Amino acid sequence: MDRWKGRVALVTGASVGIGAAIAKSLVQHGMKVVGCARNVEQIQKSAADCVSSGFSGTLIPYKCDLSVEDDVLSMFSWIKVQHQGIDVCINNAGLALPEPLLSGKTSGWRTMMDVNVIALSVCTREAYKSMKERKIDDGHIININSICGHRVINSADAHFYTASKYAVTALTEGLRQELREAKTHIRATCISPGIVKTEFAYRLFSENPEKAAATYKSEKCLQAVDIANTVVYVLSAPPHVQIGDIEITPVDQSM
Ligand SMILES: NC(=O)c1ccc[n+]([C@@H]2O[C@H](COP(=O)([O-])OP(=O)(O)OC[C@H]3O[C@@H](n4cnc5c(N)ncnc54)[C@H](OP(=O)(O)O)[C@@H]3O)[C@@H](O)[C@H]2O)c1
Repeated sequence: MDRWKGRVALVTGASVGIGAAIAKSLVQHGMKVVGCARNVEQIQKSAADCVSSGFSGTLIPYKCDLSVEDDVLSMFSWIKVQHQGIDVCINNAGLALPEPLLSGKTSGWRTMMDVNVIALSVCTREAYKSMKERKIDDGHIININSICGHRVINSADAHFYTASKYAVTALTEGLRQELREAKTHIRATCISPGIVKTEFAYRLFSENPEKAAATYKSEKCLQAVDIANTVVYVLSAPPHVQIGDIEITPVDQSM
């Protein structure tokens, strides 16, 4: 990770869960991390934790609603002015809403598409633009996908979310191909976790916290730090190694 010291990473959805763990871990490795989310106060707390832990990098909180394109574009302009640009983009923010295909609300489907697919694509395009204009040839774009990006689990509450994550699989591979055609050495990777203990299920089942708690009943769920460690592994790969997709699940998970 030495080559990333002092360089700039954007982590979306850095307020809680996997994004918060990734942001802290990159700061621990000496990176300058812009962490964005709507709940910026939570990121400010993480930034204070990084300082009190003596981490060598910095966490810079930025308030952004990723479902609003103007917010995302303003964030990239701000990063350009304040920190020149970004070298690593971690598209982590994402959500599932319980909106089945036969009865779900269109607004819920749109919210999932806006954050899980459109915001990820806008951030990717803007991150590439930032790397290209500064002639950064070793940048990395990492998408936090899901095992739901690879198989359809029989759960009506997750079917639309699953479709949005299949899109992430296609977007990551399409990106890899476009980067090769553009003759850059910028890399594209997706990380596809199974169940990770975060706020995710509590947000999915916000009307039914018991159902959310049952999702995490296994003591052997992945922890957010397991995904942060995977990001570090991906960023540590030597320049000639392209990691396309890593599936990471709890040992006991059946799907
Ligand atoms: N937990 C799992 O079991 C699991 C499994 C596989 C894949 N994943 C994927 O991992 C990623 C992170 O999930 P998590 O488990 O860490 O979930 P989480 O604890 O619910 O965190 C979700 C993050 O996304 C951010 N976010 C959501 N909507 C946003 C918006 N409109 N604008 C800005 N930020 C927004 C949230 O920030 P604010 O609410 O503060 O804006 C929060 O930081 C997601 O892409 C998810 O699909 C999770």
